[in-house]
Amino acid sequence: MLTLLVACGSKTGGSGKTYTVATDSNFKPFEYLNPETGELEGFDIELMKEVAKRAGFDVKFETMEFEGLLTGMQSGRYPIGIAGMSITPDRAETLDFSDPYYDSGMILMVPVDSDIQSIDDVDGKKIGTRQGSTSQSYLKEHTDAKIEAFPEIVTAYMNLQEGRLDGALYDLPNVQYFIAQEGKGELKTTGDILQGESYGIAFKKDSELVDDVNEALASMIKDGTYAEIYEKYFGERPAEKWLGDE
Ligand code: ARG
Repeated sequence: MLTLLVACGSKTGGSGKTYTVATDSNFKPFEYLNPETGELEGFDIELMKEVAKRAGFDVKFETMEFEGLLTGMQSGRYPIGIAGMSITPDRAETLDFSDPYYDSGMILMVPVDSDIQSIDDVDGKKIGTRQGSTSQSYLKEHTDAKIEAFPEIVTAYMNLQEGRLDGALYDLPNVQYFIAQEGKGELKTTGDILQGESYGIAFKKDSELVDDVNEALASMIKDGTYAEIYEKYFGERPAEKWLGDE
């Protein structure tokens, strides 16, 4: 497991408390290590730093695999987690969530010459995904695919590129990013976006931080800071609902 600690100062003062934020380092463009600097970067990281600043606390990030992050949070080991985590009724039983901060969904990725056209065609096919993800649950519940779930999604993507898998199911923004960066002409998305999901910041159950964090998020949407961070990582303006008063 790779552990990375980054301390970030709060300008507003507030409680001045430092909270450990559990995250992952393998979910572009939400959280990843900059290959040149080795620094943890991404939409989630920058969003979280700004939220903390506004809510008046300090954060230090700790990176781990996504499935470990979920179990670590559920056991109360981490007070806060941000990792493109979809808000689901199941998870909400054991964790608190902030208001949604990003609308997502899942999409199937296949080689450009594949005859798989949608999720209806995956039965009996080898489909890769990530351990502990909503995509893994979706495949289990809705298909008879041969599911191969990896601790890191890039392993699924590499296996797909090398012909050892027939497809991969994962979060739309991450799949799109991968195709644009590394899969052009080789891989494509196919079928509909499955199961609209929203990402939320997760907290230990009954956290006292939720209200302050929601207020901070709302103020960032309102004054355009959210849109600025969004544009930096996604290369376009966010949808209307995230644009505040502009
Ligand atoms: N949104 C999906 C889920 O909640 C996948 C998230 C994966 N995030 C990550 N940082 N690896 O299951």
